[in-house]
Amino acid sequence: MSKNVHLQYSIIQKLKLKIFFSKYTSINFFKIIHILVLHEDKGGFIYNNKYHNYNIKVIKIILKEWEKMTIHLVNCKRNQVKKDIEIIILKDLKTLKRSLKEELKKLGFKAKEGQTCFFGKRLYVGTSFLKGEDLKIALSTAIKVLKNTQYKRILVPLVRTNFEFSLGSIVEGLILGSYKFTKYKSQKEETEIELFIDVNNSKKSIEFLNSQLQKNLQISSSVNLVRDIVNTPPEDFYPKKMAQKAKEIASKNNLSCKVFEEKYLLKNGMNAMLAVGRASRHKSQLIHLTYKPKNPRGKIVIVGKGLTYDCGGLSLKSGTGMISMKCDKSGGSAVLGIMNAISKLDYSYEVHGIIGAVENMIGGNAYKPDDILKAKNGKTIEVKNTDAEGRLVLADCLCYAQDEIKNIDYIFDIATLTGACIIGLGEYTTGVMGHSEKLKKKMLKASKKSGELIGILPYNRYLPPMIKSEIADIVNSTSSKAGSAITASLFLDNFIKKENKKKWLHLDIAGAAYREKIWGYNAYGGTGAGVRLILKFINGLK
Ligand code: BES
Ligand code: ZN
Ligand code: ZN
Repeated sequence: MSKNVHLQYSIIQKLKLKIFFSKYTSINFFKIIHILVLHEDKGGFIYNNKYHNYNIKVIKIILKEWEKMTIHLVNCKRNQVKKDIEIIILKDLKTLKRSLKEELKKLGFKAKEGQTCFFGKRLYVGTSFLKGEDLKIALSTAIKVLKNTQYKRILVPLVRTNFEFSLGSIVEGLILGSYKFTKYKSQKEETEIELFIDVNNSKKSIEFLNSQLQKNLQISSSVNLVRDIVNTPPEDFYPKKMAQKAKEIASKNNLSCKVFEEKYLLKNGMNAMLAVGRASRHKSQLIHLTYKPKNPRGKIVIVGKGLTYDCGGLSLKSGTGMISMKCDKSGGSAVLGIMNAISKLDYSYEVHGIIGAVENMIGGNAYKPDDILKAKNGKTIEVKNTDAEGRLVLADCLCYAQDEIKNIDYIFDIATLTGACIIGLGEYTTGVMGHSEKLKKKMLKASKKSGELIGILPYNRYLPPMIKSEIADIVNSTSSKAGSAITASLFLDNFIKKENKKKWLHLDIAGAAYREKIWGYNAYGGTGAGVRLILKFINGLK
């Protein structure tokens, strides 16, 4: 597209995209994210000497009452924008005028990654690259710094010295970077920020930028929604709450939602899932959300582990091992986030989100090591360790998915399944396992595009015997810890039908889903791992 695309805006207000946060009440505590299209506005731009019409959607994103953010797309050349401060992202000082360079040098600013410096009406932020993850992290650094100041009206140029930044990365960096879990703070800091993204000199049409902005807002706020769910304590977010949340998401996004209770599980032979939740005072829930576009090109199924708490059961975790096990619902929460985003992204695939929402507790009626459980597909499982509960829940959910949904094109499960995956790949990387090399490559592509890290863990012929049982078909936990992220995946393989073997991938997000320290644009706690990865995968399907 030619450089001299002319963007013409009537008034700034017409381009307003408001993000603000909804009222906290004890009832709608989880009513966190809605994106409302307020109205459409007609406008236009001149491109190749022709006037083109476009519709501007004015969007309100309701997040939290105490934190308000508004995003405007503006053209500074045409509009007077009253700004308090401008964010300038730099990978070196080369493009700056000599006098400015000298001043910044005096202040010790060398544009090194993570460095920030206020000078004039500008906040300079250093980065290694002007793209992708680096750009997101730089914007996240900037917004964190600015949230601690009195600057309220912030300008971000989309184009600087002939270089056009990715609007998607800017939005992701700002929205994901400004997240903080403050629901339980008795004193909430009120913030109100107005962001102006200056599209002057952009090579893209306003229609494109506008739709990109909306899509990226939808994705980023869905990630923040997942973070909120994951961070919520188990006393306030148990299986029934997960089902309620799913229904809420469904009604807002025109999805269908079925919730099955324990009676259904019993009637349908889902004894493995039932056993895990038996000692909890909260009843297990099987949740099934569906997004059906017109004339779908295929079917995608995503099954999530929704352990709202995992104390290990009778094979009890240690005191420290139990801390943060509210994060064991991250897979199921990611499914909720994906389903929340999907209807706004115009994907042509039918997408099913299935969640096994269960709490793993101890008690007189708890399932025990030595028990033998019969799963939905008839396979028998000898319980060696009640802390290897996720695979039991997923086993039945995978059977349910394949019994209920025919002609599946892709089936993924996503779970905080093993500590071994963290040991193997490190704290930030999702383990991906499956039978199809082609499919794993596709997921790697989605990983590169989304910025979520994945690592492939390989199967081999010697590993399956490790999960054989002397008295049942398989065991749920091996005697050796070696390779136990892979043997967990091989356990799940027992519940994948022959025709779906090459269509299935297992995603172990035990490390990436939750961190007790700031990591890039991730705050302390839930990260929303899996949402952007899987959405990019679907987006990349031809
Ligand atoms: N939920 C845990 C896995 C986990 C560990 C998630 C750390 C997030 C952070 C899972 O249910 C579990 O306890 N797995 C055991 C399996 C073992 C008993 C075979 C593990 O990884 O130790
Ligand atoms: Zn466990
Ligand atoms: Zn678990």
